[in-house]
Amino acid sequence: MHILVTGGAGYVGSHAVRLLLESGHEVWAYDNLSRGHRQAVPDGRLIEGEVADEGQLVEILKEKRIEAVMHFAAFAEVGESMQHPDRYYRNNVVATLALLEAMRAAEVGRIVFSSTTATYGEPATIPITEKEEQQPINPYGFSKLVIEKALADYARAYGWGYAALRYFNAAGASPSGEIGEDHDPESHLIPIVLQVALGQRDQISIFGDDYSTPDGTCIRDYVHIDDLGSAHLLALDKLQSGQGLCLNLGTGRGTSVREVIDACRRISGRDIPEQTVARRPGDPPELVADSSLAQSVLNWTPQYTDIDSIVDTAWNWHESHPRGYGDRD
Ligand code: UFG
Repeated sequence: MHILVTGGAGYVGSHAVRLLLESGHEVWAYDNLSRGHRQAVPDGRLIEGEVADEGQLVEILKEKRIEAVMHFAAFAEVGESMQHPDRYYRNNVVATLALLEAMRAAEVGRIVFSSTTATYGEPATIPITEKEEQQPINPYGFSKLVIEKALADYARAYGWGYAALRYFNAAGASPSGEIGEDHDPESHLIPIVLQVALGQRDQISIFGDDYSTPDGTCIRDYVHIDDLGSAHLLALDKLQSGQGLCLNLGTGRGTSVREVIDACRRISGRDIPEQTVARRPGDPPELVADSSLAQSVLNWTPQYTDIDSIVDTAWNWHESHPRGYGDRD
């Protein structure tokens, strides 16, 4: 298929681009490089542009004879969304609506959309199934939920086929070692812990060890970036006109902050000093996916089923790219 990947130079999008190319698809990454990295995209596959630029998108969709869109381009920091909700509504909602209109104009009615566990807010039941009520507690979660609703309406009214894939904690790097995680500033646990292992930070601050979890630290469901990518490829094949697939993507296995730090010590063999600090506002104690629906509907099986195998790929990337892509200095 001919596929446009918005946010194709970002963390999740760039890994999906590689997998799509390996599967023989014709792929273009569309990215404004505000948070993505040129080097994350194979030569000749990057188109620079804004998702809000409906006119340019219509031209590209037609010229490249695009048959489906994978829409990764978005801001994805909960804390930032609380400070700057305008960015989230403008970039994740308004710009996405421009993309949807461009798709309508170019008669492209298939889309796989990056959604998030943040649409659930503070779920009542763990593990979280898709039946859980979606009640986001921050602008990031709301911005993604608005687009899920819009897609449901577009499917009903215009016969689109879509998938909204709700990621849990994306983690790890391509096993090839060529691409990986590089955010600025970095806020995610595994890259920060590995920066401590590399001596780039003095210690890891554990945000609270008084949660009602076995070791007192928060539990998350870390899912490998290539497992997310493979779910996108499978979802593409399952899109059906007038229908939406809303699926959780996680491993079903929870790992605490302390267990992540221990895994990083094991894999890197380095000293990783830690300190416990206050809780980070807005962190739910436990978020673990029930992904049985994705597994049965997509026939998807995550390949990275333990935290060590995920950290191993992340360490391989961080050790060989201590400055990430090196394009931020
Ligand atoms: N943590 C620390 N110290 C750090 C960084 C993180 O203790 O320096 C803890 C957090 O408190 C949390 C866990 O590590 O308990 C994971 O934190 P991340 O920031 O790596 O990930 P989040 O679970 O906060 O965020 C993820 C995605 C978001 C998504 C969110 C939804 O990265 O995009 O889940 O809950 F919105």
